[in-house]
Amino acid sequence: MSPKKLVVIGQGYVGLPLAMRAVEVGFEVVGVEIDPVRTQRLTDGDSYVEDIPSEDLQKAIATGRYLATTDYSAAAGFDFAIITVPTPLREGNPDLSFVEQTGHAIAGHLTPGATVVLESTTYPGTTQELLQPLLEDGSSLKAGIDFYLGYSPERIDPGNPIYGLTNTPKVISGLTPSCLTAVQGLYATLVDTTVSVSGTKEAELTKLLENTFRHVNIALVNELAVFAHDLGIDIWEAIDAASTKPFGYMRFTPGPGVGGHCLPVDPSYLSWQVKRQLGQSFRFIELANDVNEHMPNYVVQRVTSALNERSKAVKGSRVLILGLAYKKNTSDARESPSTRVVQLLAGLGADVRVIDPHVDLTVVHLPEPLPATQVSLTQPEVDVADLTLLLVDHDDFDLSILDGAPVLDTRRVLAPADNIEIL
Ligand SMILES: NC(=O)c1ccc[n+]([C@@H]2O[C@H](COP(=O)([O-])OP(=O)(O)OC[C@H]3O[C@@H](n4cnc5c(N)ncnc54)[C@H](O)[C@@H]3O)[C@@H](O)[C@H]2O)c1
Repeated sequence: MSPKKLVVIGQGYVGLPLAMRAVEVGFEVVGVEIDPVRTQRLTDGDSYVEDIPSEDLQKAIATGRYLATTDYSAAAGFDFAIITVPTPLREGNPDLSFVEQTGHAIAGHLTPGATVVLESTTYPGTTQELLQPLLEDGSSLKAGIDFYLGYSPERIDPGNPIYGLTNTPKVISGLTPSCLTAVQGLYATLVDTTVSVSGTKEAELTKLLENTFRHVNIALVNELAVFAHDLGIDIWEAIDAASTKPFGYMRFTPGPGVGGHCLPVDPSYLSWQVKRQLGQSFRFIELANDVNEHMPNYVVQRVTSALNERSKAVKGSRVLILGLAYKKNTSDARESPSTRVVQLLAGLGADVRVIDPHVDLTVVHLPEPLPATQVSLTQPEVDVADLTLLLVDHDDFDLSILDGAPVLDTRRVLAPADNIEIL
């Protein structure tokens, strides 16, 4: 029997691991990716997603069942299509243009019996109110009768060595019971455990609930960190102690802010919808946005004080920043608080050097060029810096090189010492 054809639209942090898994379990996979640079790298077996080593990509290509292409016509005759395109904010509002483009593009290739699943994070109602009509109008087929449609939120945690696509339970949903059966049949081949919910809106809300929960709790510890510092109390010790409670507490730690494609974006999809449909403010989300967005400014304030302690002004000081990614062990620098810290310090006249071996600025497109020089972590760079600012604790940073150097550690990874200040 010839393998079933699965099209994954968008070959990014979500789509590429999914495509690789689908090849592994025997599908014929087409990865449709509009970025020609990315497509070429995939074709060359050169992965830009660190959870997928290039060797794994090369193995997938060698099976003859993986094709990366910019051309939607390669989707023709698909059995399954999974959409993993970006869902960013534009001027604070959801930007679903990528999902819309994708819906238009695959509708023409939709045939009876096929299944389409949206995985991009979005507000409840998108699958039913936006994607369903696009697919039906473009194909003249009916969802739930001629083809199947569902939503399944992605829970990928880039850089997580324990939980990946296969062993993280996957929430699934369908527009109708027959859609759910089709979606269940697909994901049962890809992951160990599926969790069905009764409708696509519930599945869409699940993802927003998970990320809003993280966003709000991070904001809580961030705000507490600011107050604890002013009160002269070690918040990190309190967090360690609270984390010994075996129930009713979950550990979150302060940091320079939140970044990536999820936390700075997803909760705002929910608050936007609540505002649009109910005319009300989702106050928890707005407060969390406020607190977390302010953290880079707070870090800069602490840099200013640390330099002041050494009788130095920010202007003209050399500040060495460790970490551009939005969190450890990832190359993703989208919405990273580090880039905001760099801009603020450079705006004050600091001479900013940044180190992040994970971030390839030719792949991660930042909205504006960074006003800083990218360097490597070497002793001379540390020695000439007036202050080193540790923003991301990548595992491969050799932090012993910082011995004796003045450091502001926003992740509390360095052992206490006179030269180390903790956020
Ligand atoms: N990165 C994460 O950790 C994560 C986790 C869970 C959910 N999500 C969600 O998954 C979705 C994708 O996120 P991502 O991190 O993989 O983004 P990404 O930017 O890494 O990948 C998306 C890819 O889609 C491509 N693309 C855009 N429009 C396209 C089109 N019309 N046709 C084909 N390709 C197109 C882009 O070029 C890009 O390579 C988003 O909704 C995001 O919120 C991301």
